[in-house]
Amino acid sequence: MDAGRIRNAALARKVVPAEEAAAVIRPGDNVGMSGFTGAGHPKAVPGALARRITEAQNAGDPFQVDLWTGASTAPELDGVLAAVDGIARRLPYQSDPVLRERINRGEVDYVDVHLSHVAQLAWEGFLGPLDVAVVEVSAITEDGLLVPSSSVGNNKTWLDLAERVVLEVNSWQPAGLAGMHDVYYGTALPPNRRPVQLTRPDDRIGVPHLLVDPDKVVAVVETDAPDRNTPFAAPDDTARAIAGHLIEYLQHEVSRGRLPAELLPLQSGVGNVANAVLAGLQESPFEQLTAYTEVIQDGMLDLLRSGTLASASATAFSLSPTAIADFTAHVDEFRDRILLRPQEISNHPEIIRRLGVLAMNGMIEADLYGNVNSTHLMGSRIQNGIGGSGDFARNAYVSFFVSPSTAKGGAISSIVPMVSHVDHTEHDVAVVVTEQGLADLRGLSPRRRARLVIDRCAHPDYRPMLTDYLDRAEHGAFGRHTPHLMTEALSWHARYASTGSMLPR
Ligand code: COA
Repeated sequence: MDAGRIRNAALARKVVPAEEAAAVIRPGDNVGMSGFTGAGHPKAVPGALARRITEAQNAGDPFQVDLWTGASTAPELDGVLAAVDGIARRLPYQSDPVLRERINRGEVDYVDVHLSHVAQLAWEGFLGPLDVAVVEVSAITEDGLLVPSSSVGNNKTWLDLAERVVLEVNSWQPAGLAGMHDVYYGTALPPNRRPVQLTRPDDRIGVPHLLVDPDKVVAVVETDAPDRNTPFAAPDDTARAIAGHLIEYLQHEVSRGRLPAELLPLQSGVGNVANAVLAGLQESPFEQLTAYTEVIQDGMLDLLRSGTLASASATAFSLSPTAIADFTAHVDEFRDRILLRPQEISNHPEIIRRLGVLAMNGMIEADLYGNVNSTHLMGSRIQNGIGGSGDFARNAYVSFFVSPSTAKGGAISSIVPMVSHVDHTEHDVAVVVTEQGLADLRGLSPRRRARLVIDRCAHPDYRPMLTDYLDRAEHGAFGRHTPHLMTEALSWHARYASTGSMLPR
């Protein structure tokens, strides 16, 4: 361990092995862990807890915990605990394959809530008492202040609410992260809530550290382990086409005077399409852009480096191994231009609405009328979760949803008559983009939206089927405002489930 990482004498005396720290967690506890998009999660205690759970189960003693995090974590947290059946209830967003499987087998109660709502739910007491917080930090100062690591997420809330606190101090995290965080301590529950005084994406309204009552800290664990750091695939033709439509649209909106030349603060979901959009912006004429988003991924670092992006506010990093090496080497250049905030602020509806964020998120499917499903395959199988997409889409200046027009080699159309699950209603979805094209649904009645979505976004293999459905619905539906054939609206999903394709044989 880097000698300078635990500089507070009292907390340095609490350093113990991960096994000892994990022993403070009891069966049935509510445990709040750090971690957001595979960044800043505890690296050692969850594994030690999983081993304890297995020992208890082998001795015939049931042992599960309720696990609350910031968002998705990593195999060494969600993965190991799900593998030993150690999670009774999990919230919010997750993307771990082992955990996903357990959720879809009905073995884990998964509570998929908007990311900005989690802290409020916890403070309300609605989730029950928080027994233990396990939070990764990058250092502890002489005064006992905690320097956050590569995500802030819900850490402030977990540290404030938990009865017992375990800190993991990870010396793998760049020491230069210090000063990049902005932790706002002004939140309250109604009726005492005050306006959050943030009017520009790079406003600093808090302090650069997390606070903890040292008496609650029961253990400190030293680690030296990397974040998840998934590599990004190079954008394929589909991702590049989606990015191209989006950027052309933004240029068009600027030329029509509907957006300023430097656009409005960007929010971009994670993933390869989002990264392709960011790469596309790199080659565009845009300058002095800003980001008010959830996650800083590779493409954003490139944009900051080139000056296309002036600043970026988020709650976490999600970088590939190459990008993290670059970030660590140049952390001083980035420090004044990157802010990491608690997720209740990075995703705050009030701020997103005030700033006029341009929100770009991935989707599973959209229907003719612009309802969007971001979470479920064939209506019932969870993929990840709603994440921050609802926080941003509902409150954005323009909310974009993007997806390839087909999935599974063309066997699935992502434009369907009716979505099999609704995360974002037609009222919150402004623009739908696929590699086929872009449909701006604003100001259009449902039937006009439907024709536009078919013409611009559907794959040619599915366009005639969608047109046929709409034509017949316009004549045979109960009403003509939002025409649907109730016995047929979800028949494409049913056909896929029984034949493996939405296309008729
Ligand atoms: N029907 C059924 N399956 C579909 C599908 C559809 N319409 N569209 C995609 N899929 C499948 C893919 O085939 C893939 O399956 P596989 O893992 O077996 O290969 C899986 O769903 C994921 O699809 P992919 O295209 O790789 O997704 P992605 O990485 O672009 O992510 C979402 C798309 C919607 C899952 C992702 O954006 C998400 O989780 N969004 C919700 C949260 C969010 O928006 N967060 C950002 C807010 S800040």
